[in-house]
Amino acid sequence: MSDKKIKITKNGPYIVTGNVPLSEKIIVPVGKHYEYEEGKTLPQAETYALCRCGKTKTPPFCDGTHAKINFDGTEVASKDKFEDRLVRTVNGPALDLLDDGRCSLSRFCHREPGHAWNLTKQSDDPEKKKEAIRGASECPAGRIVAVEKNGEVYEDKLEQSIDILYDKEKGVIGPIYVKGGIPIEAADGEVYEIRNRAALCRCGQSDNKPFCDAMHLGRDEHERIFNKK
Ligand code: FES
Repeated sequence: MSDKKIKITKNGPYIVTGNVPLSEKIIVPVGKHYEYEEGKTLPQAETYALCRCGKTKTPPFCDGTHAKINFDGTEVASKDKFEDRLVRTVNGPALDLLDDGRCSLSRFCHREPGHAWNLTKQSDDPEKKKEAIRGASECPAGRIVAVEKNGEVYEDKLEQSIDILYDKEKGVIGPIYVKGGIPIEAADGEVYEIRNRAALCRCGQSDNKPFCDAMHLGRDEHERIFNKK
C-alpha cells in the first residue's frame, strides 16, 4: 500500500505527501505527434502544496494567494469508476478504445498516422494498432484506454510521481499529471478512483474540478475547439 497521497483542501491547494517525485515537463510537437521535453528542476520534499487556483506567484507551489482571491475550488467531478463514466467506446477489428471524455487537450492521442480513435478503427493493421495503443497509453488525463479483444488492458507501468505540464505550442500551462495510481482524496475525505493516469486542474478554471478539462487554454479557445469537434 502506497504512503503517497494527494489531499485536496477545500478552496485551497493539493497537499502532496510521501516524497512524491516532482518534475516539470514541456509538451512539444514532433511531426504530427507530441513528446515531452524536460523542464526546469523542481525542489523535492516529503510534503508540498501544489497550487490549484492558478494565481500563485510561485508556481507550481501554493503561496497562499487562493485565500486572498476567495478561490472557489468546489469539486464537482464524478467519483464513479472509469468504466461507469464512459461516453464512447470504439470497437475496432483488433482493439477497443474506451473513452470517458475527460480531456486535457494534451494531444498525445495524436500519432503520425492519425488519432487514437481512427487508428483503433483500423487496428487490423498491426502498425496502426500499435500506434493506437501508444496514443491511448500516453494520454495524461487517462481519458482513453486501449483494450485487447480478450479484455487485456494496456497501461504502461508508471512510477508514482507528478509532472507539472506546460504546453509550448499553445503557450499555456498544462495540468498536473499524476502518474502510477497515487490516491487523490477529495476535500470531503472520499477518495477518487485510483488510476494510473490522471490530470488535475492547476489553472483554477476547470468546470470539472479537481480534474483538468483543458480550460487552461482559455474559455474562448476551449469553446472553439470543443464545439468544433
Ligand atoms: S492554491 Fe494556493 S495559491 Fe493557488
